[in-house]
Amino acid sequence: MKPVFDSDFEIGVIGAGLMGRGIAQVAAQAGIRVRLYDAKPGAAVEACGQIKHAWDALVDKGRLNPQEAARSCNRLAPAMQLEEVASCSVVIEAIIESLPAKQELLRRLESIVGEHCVLATNTSSLLVTEVAAGCAHPERVAGLHFFSPVPRMKIAEVIDGVRTAPWVCDRLVDLVRRIGHEPVRAKDSPGFIANHAGRGYGPEALRIASEGVADFAVIDEILRDACGFRMGPFELFDLTGLDVSHVAGESIYRQFYEEPRFQPSLITRQRLAGGLLGRKTRRGFYEYDESGRRNPGVPASAPALRDIPVWVEAGDTSGHDAIRALARASNVHLEAGEKPSAGALAILLPIGEDATAACVRQQTDPRHTVAVDPLFLDRRRTVMLTPVTDALFRDQAKAILATDGIPVSVINDSPGFVTQRICASIVNVACNMAQQRIASPSDIDNTVKLALAYPQGPFALGDSLGAKGVLRILEALHERYREPRYRPSPWLSRRAALGIPLATPEAST
Ligand SMILES: NC(=O)c1ccc[n+]([C@@H]2O[C@H](COP(=O)([O-])OP(=O)(O)OC[C@H]3O[C@@H](n4cnc5c(N)ncnc54)[C@H](O)[C@@H]3O)[C@@H](O)[C@H]2O)c1
Repeated sequence: MKPVFDSDFEIGVIGAGLMGRGIAQVAAQAGIRVRLYDAKPGAAVEACGQIKHAWDALVDKGRLNPQEAARSCNRLAPAMQLEEVASCSVVIEAIIESLPAKQELLRRLESIVGEHCVLATNTSSLLVTEVAAGCAHPERVAGLHFFSPVPRMKIAEVIDGVRTAPWVCDRLVDLVRRIGHEPVRAKDSPGFIANHAGRGYGPEALRIASEGVADFAVIDEILRDACGFRMGPFELFDLTGLDVSHVAGESIYRQFYEEPRFQPSLITRQRLAGGLLGRKTRRGFYEYDESGRRNPGVPASAPALRDIPVWVEAGDTSGHDAIRALARASNVHLEAGEKPSAGALAILLPIGEDATAACVRQQTDPRHTVAVDPLFLDRRRTVMLTPVTDALFRDQAKAILATDGIPVSVINDSPGFVTQRICASIVNVACNMAQQRIASPSDIDNTVKLALAYPQGPFALGDSLGAKGVLRILEALHERYREPRYRPSPWLSRRAALGIPLATPEAST
């Protein structure tokens, strides 16, 4: 066991770009002495000035006291030469994302620092083991992955390479805690936790869009309003920029030897080639004005109710009750028979199935049938059409669902609508990460909430939907598409079969 940090230790940060600056800022603010180095002449001095500005701004807003800002400033110093990090206990590299550049830097650092100094890499797409591979002592190298902007994203992934000694990550965990961030442990694998777990969201939304289920804005509004995601996937693509997100997605797909769950999309590849990167080019999935504001769309008004009776498929879930209550509140005649009459609108409430499968199961007239998502009815409702739903019946369904003023989106046939499909994909990807021992369910849930800002972690989400329900959605997707992309993770299917929480860890052997 190597010594823990004494009270007056010093860290080195190499690379004074966006990430290096953020790491240096939070560390110095937490009472740690920091030497900041950049290969570009003047860059480290300039970065220290920018960090000081950030502290001044916090003082002006009353979020940092001036004495603390001055003390933080005294703890931060630019290094003119790499050799000035010689006495550091930890050196964190945040230079460009290039394997040869990172390997070369770590080799140089090995000849400068003491034998107990930890060397950490902030790489987001390379394997830590590969970055460490050129070192004489790879056992002291580990991953320490922060998120941007570092002061606000209060989490860091701590990653053991295959040759990392156990004490190294223990020390990094201490460091992250001392900085005031939450440390999460991850196995060295492509995308670590957050960038891997995020594969259930954007890629599945692209798949839904590529099938013509709904346009980008409709998919975004459903996921934002009905499921509570802070941003829709296409809003998020615009924020990150396709030059980053499409390239990262392709890299993770290739590194996992073309795992079908992570298959990138032609939509983003083509848009990247066409220069529609997102906010940074003012054109992405949305258009932005010079000040970065999005051009507003035109909100659709609800159609008028007609004299078409409605029939709701039998069931005793809260979703069935809610739809029947809406039909009564709209004063439309609610049929009580086992089957709808010839002229009635049939509303089906499937889990996992598409509208066609549900219509065949109930033997209703596909021209008079819609499916309504029974799981997410509180803040936005989704009506799904069969390939031949008549426009009059579509509008009657929209009018009934909008009776109490909740907005309604209309989509084409899609197993599991948009919501169920995306939620099941997120849960399935996370379950498979737990199965592969990439991280524990609680670390995956924490990372997804803090780094991706999802309303719930995937395991909590899966348990709130019910493991059996999630399995049913994936099996319906698998049945419709017959693609390995939708195969349920064994972690999920075992816990669904036993009726135990999805976060239940494996028994020890
Ligand atoms: N930007 C993000 O959101 C993000 C998030 C997590 C991790 N990362 C990772 O963090 C690292 C840095 O990313 P960034 O966005 O801060 O990049 P950046 O381009 O803003 O900064 C990189 C800095 O490294 C310097 N540099 C390049 N080669 C160097 C060398 N050999 N020695 C010393 N300095 C060198 C450059 O001059 C530059 O100032 C990358 O590995 C990236 O993948 C980035």
